[in-house]
Amino acid sequence: MFIVLAVLIVTLVTIMLLWIKQTYNYFDGFGIIYDKPTPILGSMKDALLQRIHLKTVIENLYKKYKSHSVVGIFEGTRPVLMITHPEVINQVGVQHFNSFLNHKEMLDEKFGLIGKTLIALKDQKWRDMRSTLTPSFSGSKLKAMIPFIEKIAKHGVKHLKLCDRDGLGEDIEMKEFFARLTNDVIATTAFGLEIDSLKHKDNEFFALGKSVTNFNGIFVLKMLLTNASPKLAKLLNIKFVSSKNSKFINDTIIGSMKFRRDNNILREDMINLLMEARESSKATKHWTDDEIVAQCLIFIIGGLDSVSSLLCTICQMCIENPEEQRKLIEEIHQTKNDLKDESLTYEQIQGLSYMDMFISETLRLWPPTFITDRNCTKDCVLDDPITGKTIQVKAGENLLIPISALHKDPTYFPEPNKFDPQRFSPENKSNIKHCTYIPFGVGPRNCIAQRLALIETKCLLFHILDEFHFTSCEKSTIPISLDPSTITFTPRNGFWFKVIKN
Ligand code: HEM
Repeated sequence: MFIVLAVLIVTLVTIMLLWIKQTYNYFDGFGIIYDKPTPILGSMKDALLQRIHLKTVIENLYKKYKSHSVVGIFEGTRPVLMITHPEVINQVGVQHFNSFLNHKEMLDEKFGLIGKTLIALKDQKWRDMRSTLTPSFSGSKLKAMIPFIEKIAKHGVKHLKLCDRDGLGEDIEMKEFFARLTNDVIATTAFGLEIDSLKHKDNEFFALGKSVTNFNGIFVLKMLLTNASPKLAKLLNIKFVSSKNSKFINDTIIGSMKFRRDNNILREDMINLLMEARESSKATKHWTDDEIVAQCLIFIIGGLDSVSSLLCTICQMCIENPEEQRKLIEEIHQTKNDLKDESLTYEQIQGLSYMDMFISETLRLWPPTFITDRNCTKDCVLDDPITGKTIQVKAGENLLIPISALHKDPTYFPEPNKFDPQRFSPENKSNIKHCTYIPFGVGPRNCIAQRLALIETKCLLFHILDEFHFTSCEKSTIPISLDPSTITFTPRNGFWFKVIKN
């Protein structure tokens, strides 16, 4: 019995070692340099063991291999080509878009709602849904959203005033505050729901947003496992949105559509667009309930965490760079004087040129989405600008675009760790090399909500900085030190600032 068991174990270990050897030899013979992996953990050892934040792990790999245009790395046991040259990023993201239409295979429709969101959809389904949703972000739709966003911004200001009753300033954890404001913005602009998350702390919509954007601990492990082996994750029935949350969002969206239809209500928002996409006589494709609801989910995920992270890092840049904060407030006060109690217009928001530079520089240093990816759907030959040779990419291969690493490359951004909004002044902006600054991604598959995200950020910031400024407090973390058990910009102890009346 003992001998049988020993033989079995030796056989299993041998098979496993052979499999690991074969997996990690993937790049041999391709003529591509690759990172020597740690068995099972690949090139992501420190991120998987939650010792170093994934963003730093990727940035370190980039620094090590940036003298090559692409480098092979391993996400666990999955081989991935990391692109380190902006010209190759342009080839993949723009020139050969038809071969790199999709994101990497990770969450497909078998993962429930999350697998049906725009970010996960593939090929023609993605094209159809993208063109259905794009009108939600047209100039006229964005203009119509500004009064709703302003109302929420003013409400946020009122709340901050109440927190600081003695006028001496108050220490506040701002991530929670901004998450509540951005939650309410999405609820009203996308779904026509008026929610006051600052007052009704436990409202279901915010609870849903919070739970689907809870990117720490278990979520990270699920994500990294799914990333390394989607098949195993499917086998283990790993879920990213609980059945309770799926039911709540389903009831809210489908219920709202029915109510509008029954009562002939027309409100120019995303629900309306989705209803039109499904019910209009011109509709070319039938969308199921799940497919419709899933798009709403991505708006909650995308809208909540990215914009609130950006607002927090803007506040962080304010406390680290008081002189830049002063200039920002000065521009806001000037614009406010011109307003004479009227509402902000789209044109006035676009005219806040220093604010635009300040936000662009914050997005350079702290892009909330610090990597993105593409999957190759058709064999493709790319040009290697460094060697002058070609790079063969085979159908099925995954490519990683290291957004934050490019933003911190001193070749493109001298003194990369210095916060300097002048890099984005009208004179300097045009010198930024194409595809080296890509906080919203690249090509036709870039962030669909880029303009909404910027308008929302500017509008909220305008009203808050008109009344308050930020300084550090005892609990502030300077510089930001990311918590390695999360994959978002969560410093180890939150985003604490002293909020002081101007
Ligand atoms: C500061 C805020 C934001 C940043 C930095 C950001 C960044 C990004 C990036 C880098 C991508 C991937 C693009 C690529 O692969 O080329 C993306 C995709 C996407 N984002 Fe955003 N995003 C932000 C806000 C938002 C908001 C507010 C929403 C929704 C209301 C949103 C919805 C989406 C969607 C649906 C996609 C997938 C697009 C597709 O696959 O066609 N994002 N975003």
